[in-house]
Amino acid sequence: MHALTVLPGVANSARLDEVPEPPPEQGALLVRALALGVCGTDREIIAGEYGAAPPGEERLILGHESFGEVEEAPRGSGFKPGDRVVGIVRRPDPVPCPACASGNWDMCRNGRYTERGIKELHGFGAERFRLEPDFAIRVDPALGALGILLEPASIVAKAWDHIERIGRRSPSWLPRKVLVTGTGPIGLLAAMMGMQRRLEVHVLDRHKSGPKSALIADLGAKHHAIPVGELADLAPDIVIECTGSWQVVRDVLGLTAPDGIVCLTSVTAPGHKAEIDIGGLNRKMVLGNEAVFGTVNANRGHYQMAAEALIRADSKWLSRLITRRVPLANWQDALDHRPGDIKSVIDFTL
Ligand code: BGC
Repeated sequence: MHALTVLPGVANSARLDEVPEPPPEQGALLVRALALGVCGTDREIIAGEYGAAPPGEERLILGHESFGEVEEAPRGSGFKPGDRVVGIVRRPDPVPCPACASGNWDMCRNGRYTERGIKELHGFGAERFRLEPDFAIRVDPALGALGILLEPASIVAKAWDHIERIGRRSPSWLPRKVLVTGTGPIGLLAAMMGMQRRLEVHVLDRHKSGPKSALIADLGAKHHAIPVGELADLAPDIVIECTGSWQVVRDVLGLTAPDGIVCLTSVTAPGHKAEIDIGGLNRKMVLGNEAVFGTVNANRGHYQMAAEALIRADSKWLSRLITRRVPLANWQDALDHRPGDIKSVIDFTL
C-alpha cells in the first residue's frame, strides 16, 4: 500500500512509499484512510526539525490528523465495519508515569510518551492503518467529512478545559473577553469555542480582508488587524496564543486583565531572544494574579469535548476551514503553505 514517509532529522526527505500492510500488533481495528489533515507539526518534521522514527526503523509514516472507515473490527471491540473513526495521537509512556497511568497521557511527566506520526510510532498517512480500540474515537456520521477536524479540535478543547480549570482557582472569576491571536485552524477553532461559551471574542490577524476575516466576521467575533502591542487597552480575561510567532508570544505576556489567563498553544522554534522588562512583567502578573501556561496534545475526554463542539457548530462555517483537498498522488500540494490556506487535507477518496 502507499504511505507518506519521512526520514526524521533529514530535511525534505518526504516521499510517497510502498510499505507493507500494517501489522496486527498496531491494533485490532483495521481502518481505511479517508482523509489526512496536514499541520505545522508535519511541516516541521518534513523540515527535519522534529519527529522520530519507530525504534529500529529509519523512516516514519507521517500523519496524525486522521479520519477513516473501519474495515475490520473484532467482536466485542465496540466497533464495526463501516464506523467512521479518528485515531488518538498519543500513547502512554511504558513506565507509566502517574499521568499516563490514569489516562492523562497529554500530561505525561517523563517525556517517554509516543505519538502516531510524530514520535516513535507510525502515523496515519497510509491507505490503511491500525488502531487499538481504546485509542479510536467513533465520529458521529452527522459530521461527515468534517471528522478530519476532530484532532485539531481536541487540542483546542484541551486548551479551553485547562483555561477553565485554572479559572476555577477563583470562585468569582467570570471571564467576559477572550483574545485569540492567530487564524490558523487552532486559532479559528479556539475563537469558535469562545463564541460557544458566549464570550466576547476578539481575533488578531494581520490581514484586514480575505477569507479569514470573513470567517471571523461570520462567527460574530471582532477582528483586529493591528500589532498586538496596540491592544493594551483591551484587557482580555483570556488570551489564547496560536500564531507561533515569538514576537506575538512576547507581546501577549502580561496583556490580560487582573486574574487573567494566557494560554500558549504553539510549538515555536528555539533561538529567539527578546528583551522584556521582567521586573515590570513579574510585578503586573503578581499583583494581578495572572497565569501563563502552555498546553499540548489531548486525552480521550478532550476528543469527546471536541466532538460535541463540532456537532454544535455551523457545519458550513467549519467546512470553510478546509481550504484545500488533494489526492494522495499530489501530497506535495497539501504540504505547501500558501497565502490564505487554513487547513489542507489529503483526501484518499479522490
Ligand atoms: C499534535 C499533538 C502533539 C503535538 C506535539 C501537535 O501537532 O496535534 O497531538 O502532541 O503536535 O508533538
